[in-house]
Amino acid sequence: MILEKCSGKKKGRGKPVKFKTPYYMIHEQELDENFKKLKDALEKHWNNYIIGYSYKTNALPWVIKHFDLLGCYAETVSEDEYNLAKLIGVGKNHIIYNGPVKTKDSFMEALQNGCIVNIDSQREVEWLEDIEIENRRIGIRINFDIEKMCPGQSQCPEDGGRFGFCYENGELSKIIKKLQEKKVKIAGIHLHTSSKSRGLDIYRAIAEIACKVQKEFELDLDYVDVGGGFFGGLPTKPQFDEYIALMENILSTCFDKTKTKLIVEPGMAVIGAPISYVTSVIDVKDTEFNRFVVTDGTRTSIDPLMTKNSYFHSFDIKSQRDTHPKQVICGYTCMEHDRLFEEKNGPTLQCGDQIIYDKVGAYTMCLTPLFIKYFPDVYVELNGNVKKIRSAWTPNEYVQRSELE
Ligand SMILES: Cc1ncc(COP(=O)(O)O)c(C=O)c1O
Repeated sequence: MILEKCSGKKKGRGKPVKFKTPYYMIHEQELDENFKKLKDALEKHWNNYIIGYSYKTNALPWVIKHFDLLGCYAETVSEDEYNLAKLIGVGKNHIIYNGPVKTKDSFMEALQNGCIVNIDSQREVEWLEDIEIENRRIGIRINFDIEKMCPGQSQCPEDGGRFGFCYENGELSKIIKKLQEKKVKIAGIHLHTSSKSRGLDIYRAIAEIACKVQKEFELDLDYVDVGGGFFGGLPTKPQFDEYIALMENILSTCFDKTKTKLIVEPGMAVIGAPISYVTSVIDVKDTEFNRFVVTDGTRTSIDPLMTKNSYFHSFDIKSQRDTHPKQVICGYTCMEHDRLFEEKNGPTLQCGDQIIYDKVGAYTMCLTPLFIKYFPDVYVELNGNVKKIRSAWTPNEYVQRSELE
């Protein structure tokens, strides 16, 4: 359903139109153009690949369906995500099933359906005994010392990551032996590594470990899954072509491109940049210390973990304004720290002005709490046309599946 034409253009995007705020706006063309760069890089450097879209990064139904239509597999890490993929019509073998918290039923079904299943726990190894030998086909998530290989770039520099079977202490070796005894086909290795840097060095390390493991254990692999964690859609950061070219150089020394697939599982890199969050000023208040500009948006919708100290943002202001030395932009919640940013010497904001936050598509909608207000509207814009793809939740959606007495 096309609701309204956008009123103007800003760097190829439709300019936000006057819908009831707050809302998220997905910029479809930007999403597709950025995704194409990833596909082009894979086609150029490793034309035997799978892109698994990371559901956890943003599982809005329109978003996951869109990536399905673009040819992605669904990268899932729980029974709920796995069932969500099936619910929206993802092909039954177009699911990648990762993580340590799968359930036995969904694990068995995924293997029987021919999904890509990467194991991450001892209990999965036990479950394999209950599966017919021809369906005992898995990938192994590898835990390795990324901090040693990329000092200062890992997420847990002191005590290491917690996912996968550890290469350095021999756990990986034990699990490979056990799987071979159980006649399990080790079809792949999974090396996703969330890092602080999202830098090229991380992917050099991943490719090097992939080669080391392949050689040491003489594995004949159908796929190497390097996971997500890339940058994407930001001109000042590494580009898809650089990541994939770098990995091609290393991986091609031990893997045959025509035999072994390269799997990537982007989340942030493909959905972070093309989403904005549009809010309005609803009050301006002076205190002894500050001018507070209260908005109908909230920090919990764009930074739910409260870790960022700046946001890509712009103002949509209709009239000419004087500047103000310091304005503190706040959200609607009653938490004192729902303060988004300080605007120094910016235009004096008034009720009705809009503040637009860009590049807020990753780990936002999916982590936003139902705190005080419920989920906002979401629109998609393409070529100046805007379509609503999720209506804001109301108390009706909030009470669903609850007993009142
Ligand atoms: C296994 C796996 N794959 C892919 C991703 C997506 O990562 P990102 O959104 O940083 O690209 C994650 C994120 O934690 C992950 O754990």
